[in-house]
Amino acid sequence: MRITRFAAVVLALSLPVQSAFAADGKILVGVIGSLTGAEATFGQSTRNGVELAASELNAKGGVKGKTFELKVYDDQGKPEEAATAMTRLVAQDKVSLVIGEVASSRSLAMAPIAEANKVPMITPSSTNPRVTKEGGKVRQYVFRVCFIDPFQGTVMAKFAKNDLKLSKMAILRDVGNDYSMGLAQYFTEKFKALGGSIIADESYKAGDQDFKAQLTALKGKKPEAIYVPGYYTDVALIARQARELNMNQPMLGGDGWDSSKLYEIGGSAMDGHYFSNHYSTDDPSPAIQNFVKKYKAKYGEMPDALAALAYDALFIAADAMGRGGDAGGDALRRALAATKGYKGVTGVITIDGDHNAVKPAVVLKIAGRAPHYAATVRP
Ligand code: PHE
Repeated sequence: MRITRFAAVVLALSLPVQSAFAADGKILVGVIGSLTGAEATFGQSTRNGVELAASELNAKGGVKGKTFELKVYDDQGKPEEAATAMTRLVAQDKVSLVIGEVASSRSLAMAPIAEANKVPMITPSSTNPRVTKEGGKVRQYVFRVCFIDPFQGTVMAKFAKNDLKLSKMAILRDVGNDYSMGLAQYFTEKFKALGGSIIADESYKAGDQDFKAQLTALKGKKPEAIYVPGYYTDVALIARQARELNMNQPMLGGDGWDSSKLYEIGGSAMDGHYFSNHYSTDDPSPAIQNFVKKYKAKYGEMPDALAALAYDALFIAADAMGRGGDAGGDALRRALAATKGYKGVTGVITIDGDHNAVKPAVVLKIAGRAPHYAATVRP
């Protein structure tokens, strides 16, 4: 037993250590996202953001003379497909780095594979704490460039209590979704701590078409507002059905609402609702306005937060590759962990000890089928 183990260690150490910089002049980066399905805009925006970043970085010569090449996989919004794609990127394509996923449940399926194979993974936008830290242990190879849900839940709870002066709220959550369950919990804890009460808590499953039973139950309890920490397709249907039931309370949500489809599917039923997000395109800062201009020119639409975070993710990786000794592996993860004060589109990014980015959040109010800046909340 001991001898076998010793032999295995020697074998691993005697393999030539391949520097990604030493490869054929390219730095191969994997991207995994939901390019199809009910969360298709999540994956599409992420791919667009990474592509824009890669083309800009490559136009300037890449990193240390090596340019970026992307390998993009569609996981159709399924955690098991995300895990399969991750294994393929690591074992077959031999990428230096993986960018993805958006949804926390899918990043949670990928993270153990990144860790076991020592391939750095940056999720641009998964906000559930467990993605980078499971059972009190930080995953050495997993990072994110966004804030986490204990903060995001706090942001909306404070906004509800202090700005909207609400004290009796209800929750409608997606039971199969780690993000939704976490955010509902963090929101509840903070709203109660601020003196508010949660008078009803209902649930649904992603892909449900009819939410009238849950909405009718909520309506009977007369909440002043409803917190719906879900993804855009379900949320838009929920908002429409709430209006059909003559429920006119505001709905509040999180970053999972961020999609142009929210307004397409929800129409005017989205008006008057609020959600927390990573940035606002209303922000006049040159970093944001420059990015918006370039993105619109390339893709013909406004960049959502996912596009901006994905763009920042590749730039942060390039910065770390430039500082560290290699484009992948241990050197890259060390350099990523040491990221401090990086000026991204979505804010100044410093990676903390749990591999999270500590950044402010914005609250957006929906009117006329578009989100509008309402407030900024700092950590
Ligand atoms: N934060 C969400 C999650 O973890 C994903 C998301 C981020 C969706 C940003 C939209 C915009 O599941």
